[in-house]
Amino acid sequence: IDHTMQEEHFFYKEVIFTNALHSLETVNYAENEFVALEDDIFNVTYPKSGTNWLIEILNLIKYKGDAALSSKEPIYERSPWFETTQKDKVDTLTRPRIISSHLPIHVFAKSFFKSKAKIIYTMRNPKDIFISNFYFTKLLCALKNPESLQEHLENFLQGDVVYGSWFDHVKGWLTLKDDERFFFITYEELLQDLRSCVVRICKFLGQELDDEAIDSVVKHSTFKTMKENKMSNWSTMPSDVMDHTKGSFLRKGVAGDWKNHFTVAQNEYFDSVYQEKMKDFNVKLFWEK
Ligand code: A3P
Repeated sequence: IDHTMQEEHFFYKEVIFTNALHSLETVNYAENEFVALEDDIFNVTYPKSGTNWLIEILNLIKYKGDAALSSKEPIYERSPWFETTQKDKVDTLTRPRIISSHLPIHVFAKSFFKSKAKIIYTMRNPKDIFISNFYFTKLLCALKNPESLQEHLENFLQGDVVYGSWFDHVKGWLTLKDDERFFFITYEELLQDLRSCVVRICKFLGQELDDEAIDSVVKHSTFKTMKENKMSNWSTMPSDVMDHTKGSFLRKGVAGDWKNHFTVAQNEYFDSVYQEKMKDFNVKLFWEK
């Protein structure tokens, strides 16, 4: 495996994309050609915010707690990312389609805004996103390994990373916070009380599940169950795509791991950029309390 492989990037509407996952054609498809169906459910996140956790939860809800699909199909195929080279898989999904995306709002499917489709937007403490992403670059062979945590931190805080700035992503998407088709949740809320989050998601989707079905959704979407399930832990990814000797996709699954990695100076640097970029943002987020 060639870990020195340089990732090739391109810009589209000021956002960085990687040829390892995208092309102008796939991004253009998602933005301009894709036709949203009225019952589509979009699983939207900034990368490493809990996208796969939501794929597991949303598919379990779709099948009313029946976990058959979770042991049959790799998680990254259950709800494909429509702006990537996976885009054709979207057409093969049964309805309601659950479609993943990391696109910022200004590049998102134009047809969504004219449809009745719904979005679930999951957020996570960006310090933990950053650490999760740092390890992910070592796992995914196509991604360039950052020289150091410090170098990666600067790139992350400047938005010089694939899918662009976390700050712009969150601020952009939360302009929809009062839209009835938009539901936002945090990774930290899911960690704290998975069951009540599942109940809230069901309510938003208009899905009526009895207690037993809810229990099954919860049971099959815990970190432990997903980590042990080879269809959910990404171990089915070929080793020339993902170097399984470098770690696991389901790495730690906790909040606050950044504390084990940041120096005091790095944390202060992060806080100062955060305060500056989020000063005009008045939504209280769960991890901040
Ligand atoms: P860590 O690297 O901090 O462990 P994404 O799916 O957006 O790429 O996010 C991946 C992160 O979500 C990883 O974080 C992964 O462990 C975590 N994750 C996935 N499923 C989870 C679950 N059921 N419970 C807690 N964390 C989960």
